[in-house]
Amino acid sequence: MGNICGGASGQALDKDGKPLTKVTRTKGTPKAAAGGTPAAAIPPPATGEAAGGTQPQPAQATEVTPSAEGATAPAAAASVVPAAPSGDSGVKKLKVYIIFYSTLGHIEKLAREYKTALESVGDVEAHLFRVPETMTSEQLDAAFGAAPPPPPEDIPIIDVTQLPSADAFVFGFPTWFGMMAGQMKTFFDATGALWQAGALHGKPASIFTSAATQCGGHETTLLTSVTQLAHHGMIFVPTGYAAGAAMFGIQDAKGGSPWGASTIAGLDGSRQPSEVELEALRVQAKHFGAIAKKLAA
Ligand SMILES: Cc1cc2nc3c(=O)[nH]c(=O)nc-3n(C[C@H](O)[C@H](O)[C@H](O)COP(=O)(O)O)c2cc1C
Repeated sequence: MGNICGGASGQALDKDGKPLTKVTRTKGTPKAAAGGTPAAAIPPPATGEAAGGTQPQPAQATEVTPSAEGATAPAAAASVVPAAPSGDSGVKKLKVYIIFYSTLGHIEKLAREYKTALESVGDVEAHLFRVPETMTSEQLDAAFGAAPPPPPEDIPIIDVTQLPSADAFVFGFPTWFGMMAGQMKTFFDATGALWQAGALHGKPASIFTSAATQCGGHETTLLTSVTQLAHHGMIFVPTGYAAGAAMFGIQDAKGGSPWGASTIAGLDGSRQPSEVELEALRVQAKHFGAIAKKLAA
């Protein structure tokens, strides 16, 4: 079957079917500080305009602009996707943070694979991060029937204040009750100051998940997680059907959707990502890398 989303390479096309080479963005204007605004009247995020083409500044407070009804008015349009920093070769490298939560290791495995595929695009440096655990060991043991494996020590825990230094993001999280696990939600909930400053506005983002069963919520998890991206003004980059054949087979149970890659872990977590699922993930990573580089150019 032919590829229906712009070629096996994941090449994005414009409405006339020509390769997409340039994205026009509008610079916003950061507003003055307001400070101490109560939660009920949190101002909308300022646009995270990059000063001189560098990173937006974190936690910059914004001015409240009342509307006729006294409610806060939305901030102006998109910020500029910041230019990637220069690598040793002098070529601008895209800095991507791959941020994930994983208890049984499936998402961790996908995150590592994603990193390798993403960096194969060239001029991309990808960094793996974990989000903090929020459950007690007793709660985890009860949820899984046994103590889950320890988290990988070679991958640091992210602090939300690090986020503005990335050009693009990849988020991976297991499906828990049909949506992202609460650990990842708590991480997003901790980004309120960045939201208020518009610090992540305009940055491209990609997502993937894992679920115990084929019908356990792969797509609801990915679809509902776009909410967090949208509120930050991130540019969600779906994969569509770029993975081609890997997405169309119906003989074997498998994860993967136009929203992003996924794997089936099995009820006891014993199933490992299949080659078909991993290939779809690699296609997603390369597609995302190409799009994110264009946005940062
Ligand atoms: C509290 C909880 C809720 C879960 N809810 C779902 C669910 O709604 N659908 C599903 O298929 N699997 C569900 N699972 C299974 C997880 O999706 C599975 O453990 C995970 O995908 C494995 O990924 P990991 O190895 O990266 O932790 C749930 C697991 C827990 C602990």
